[in-house]
Amino acid sequence: MSWIKPGLLILLIVMLIIQFIQPTRNLDNGQVLSVALTEVVDVPQNVQAILQTSCYNCHSNNTLYPWYSRIQPVSWWMASHIKKGKEELNFSEFGNYSNRMRESKLKSIVGSVEDGTMPLPSFTWMHVKAKLSNEEKVLIINWATKTRDSLSLNK
Ligand code: HEC
Repeated sequence: MSWIKPGLLILLIVMLIIQFIQPTRNLDNGQVLSVALTEVVDVPQNVQAILQTSCYNCHSNNTLYPWYSRIQPVSWWMASHIKKGKEELNFSEFGNYSNRMRESKLKSIVGSVEDGTMPLPSFTWMHVKAKLSNEEKVLIINWATKTRDSLSLNK
């Protein structure tokens, strides 16, 4: 099959070229804004640790990028998750949400952790530590429920 060799060569060239087209990256400077989640609601240390490991890579302004994140097309794929993730829920800017929005986001957190849609399975596949144990799920669910209740009491 004589077309295989030129086909592979073209693929190789395309792979090489796309390595030079890198998307804008999230910051990884660990900066905490005054509107960050931890500044506006009570987040116990153990809950914060779980959120940071399992959610912050896509739902905050800070991402800990693994080495392979520099390799295309992995970086595009990650950048699109981070962009969409932040649009839906950004813990670094949680304080910018209205009270109603905060309640609704906390409700979605409970839902997504309960049904296992978050963290994204494609993420935990590469990032085993981010996978939530049952205990961790209970901690997040209880925290989000309690925080949501306290917000509705404050009205
Ligand atoms: C690999 C990236 C990634 C990780 C890690 C991740 N998410 Fe997401 N999340 C997304 C994306 C992308 C969306 C947008 C919807 C979609 O594509 O499924 C989303 C959507 C959501 C939503 C929906 C928001 C709304 O208003 O309905 C919630 C809630 C959520 N994530 C919570 C979490 C929680 C809690 C964690 C950690 C336990 C987490 N996510 C981890 C990428 C991620």
